[in-house]
Amino acid sequence: PYFSNVTTIEDTKNMLMLINKFHKLPDGYVPDSLVLTPSVCEIGVDYSCQSETQYVVKEVAAAFEKMVTAAEKEGIQLKSIASYRSYAYQKNLYDYYANTQGEEYADAYYARPGQSEHNSGLAIDVMMDGYPFNEIEEAPNYPWLLEHMSDYGFILRYPKEKVAITGYAYESWHLRYVGIETAKDIQASGLTLDEYIARKVKD
Ligand code: DAL
Ligand code: ZN
Repeated sequence: PYFSNVTTIEDTKNMLMLINKFHKLPDGYVPDSLVLTPSVCEIGVDYSCQSETQYVVKEVAAAFEKMVTAAEKEGIQLKSIASYRSYAYQKNLYDYYANTQGEEYADAYYARPGQSEHNSGLAIDVMMDGYPFNEIEEAPNYPWLLEHMSDYGFILRYPKEKVAITGYAYESWHLRYVGIETAKDIQASGLTLDEYIARKVKD
C-alpha cells in the first residue's frame, strides 16, 4: 500500500529521481540550483497563481524557456502556475486539503510533504492561453503541448489512464522535467516515470 515502506531518496542530484508515494525527498530538502522560473502567472489575473516569483532547477528553467518561446512562435502562451514548493509549503497545502476535503481527496491531488515533485524543483504546473489546471484540456492548442513537451524534456507525469500506477488523479497540467532523451522514450513507450524506472532497475 501507498505510504508504507517509504524510502528516502539519497541521490538528489539525479535528474531522473523517482518521487512518489514510496520515495520521498529528505525532510526540509531544498534543491541547490534554483533559479527564477521564466514566464510565470500573474496574481489577480491568473487563477490560483502560486506567486509571481517562482523557482525551478536551472536546467528546467532553460528547458521551460525554450518551450515557451517555441509555443509563442505558434501563437500559444504558456505560463507557470506553480513550480518549486518548499517542504513546509507542501505540508500546508496537503494539510489544508486533508482538513477541508478529507484525506482521500488530498491524497488524490496533493503529495504529502517530501513526496512532491514540486519540492524537487523539477516540476511545473502549466497553463495555456489563460486555461488553468484541468481547464487546460479545453485550450484549442493543448494538443501542441502534448505533442511537443518531450522535445524540451518534459513529460505529463500523471496521465489519465495511469491513476492506479501513479497513485494520483489525472493532472493534465503537471509537467515533470526528465531531460529530452528520457522524455522521448517515455512518450514513445506510453509508460509512466514509475514504470520506466522500475524497468531500468531490472535491466
Ligand atoms: N499535485 C502533485 C501531485 C503534487 O502535489 O506534487
Ligand atoms: Zn503539479
